[in-house]
Amino acid sequence: MRVPTPNDPAHDLARWIPRLLAVWREGRRGSRGGRRPPPDALLPDELREVGAAVARLSRGLTRERELAGARYLDEERLLGAYLLFYWPVSYLQARGTISELPRRPRAVLDLGSGPGPMAFAALDAGAAEALAADRSARALSAARALARAAGEPLGAREWNPARRTPLEALAPGRRFDLVTMGHVVNELWKGQDEDARRADLLEEALRLLAPGGSLLVVEPALRDTSRALLRVRDLLVARGHAVRAPCLFRGPCPALLRESDWCHAERPIDPPPLVTQLGKAAGLRKEAVKMSYLVVAAPGEGWAAPPAGRVFRIVSEPLPSKGRLRYMGCGPEGRMGLALQEKHVTDANRRFESLLRGDVIEVTGVEPRGDGIALGEASSVKVVAPAGRPVPAGPPGTPAPTTAGE
Ligand SMILES: C[S@@+](CC[C@H](N)C(=O)[O-])C[C@H]1O[C@@H](n2cnc3c(N)ncnc32)[C@H](O)[C@@H]1O
Repeated sequence: MRVPTPNDPAHDLARWIPRLLAVWREGRRGSRGGRRPPPDALLPDELREVGAAVARLSRGLTRERELAGARYLDEERLLGAYLLFYWPVSYLQARGTISELPRRPRAVLDLGSGPGPMAFAALDAGAAEALAADRSARALSAARALARAAGEPLGAREWNPARRTPLEALAPGRRFDLVTMGHVVNELWKGQDEDARRADLLEEALRLLAPGGSLLVVEPALRDTSRALLRVRDLLVARGHAVRAPCLFRGPCPALLRESDWCHAERPIDPPPLVTQLGKAAGLRKEAVKMSYLVVAAPGEGWAAPPAGRVFRIVSEPLPSKGRLRYMGCGPEGRMGLALQEKHVTDANRRFESLLRGDVIEVTGVEPRGDGIALGEASSVKVVAPAGRPVPAGPPGTPAPTTAGE
């Protein structure tokens, strides 16, 4: 297990655990008298109660998804499950993607904030002020209580995009360096021309950005929610918006070509013991932080030139088979398999053996093989940007094909 150091997300998150527990206990009806609970852990009866609610929320948000779009945060037990299990995970996802922005945001708007994990992650990552907006008054009041406990400058406003109030009305005239939308887009307009309406909302959010700002959308790493995000990405790209991350490819997303493909990211962060304990109680595993995400640049900004050379983002886990290691990569020239045989490993390409999903690499000395490329003894592999770090822009004018496989 990695030991968290000051300023790293796991360390910062550890400081939120007692606040989350305190806010949850304050809002819990019929709070037990008697034994004084520990500030950073659950008592056995609390663990049973929250574990059962986590299991119910998880079922409702993953399998049939009957809770997606429902007012589950208005229900005390489910809000409790959210605060103690999902909040820390969303927080880590936000930290693991905000770290990829080219510059640190100052003013942040968190849409569909719930109890605010994305907003607080942005504040911990150096933002000076954040505004949280959600339709659940109960979730917003938990966000306010957390802000008081932490002494953080968080504003909170009720917001429901279904009511068609313009986003501008949330903070008239204000512009933000970052707008976050964590796990909310997939809950909006399900089955009601959702792709176009979600793209419209994201465009409206983009118009609230200051020059150089970013819109960050994080979604569950499920096939359907991830593919839905990719379709919205394609609509935004077709409308002229530039993607900062994770895409290096400027054309229609190649992962949409085959129904079985999707795109998700993973950050190797240990969740806090409370999350592990609750996950166990609910029969879930959460040892890595998985998500689908998209960072879109403020309107009018073009795509950053990709780094020079043949670059790919690793978009799969390692796929070992019979003396050969493969990954899926996606870069300016599209999505393809990258393979290296064990017998061809050298000092110059050995880094291939330990790549993580999300790393951006530059390869040289490769050959076309099937519908991908093969690395050999003459190849080199260099990590240009590790997962979760900004990709350095290449020289202006670097050509970027827009058709997969071109
Ligand atoms: C899964 S929670 C995400 C909370 C937080 N952003 C995060 O990343 O953990 C989804 C949030 O979307 C909000 N939401 C769902 N439908 C909404 C709607 N029509 N208008 C406003 N918020 C909505 C819910 O109230 C809830 O806070």
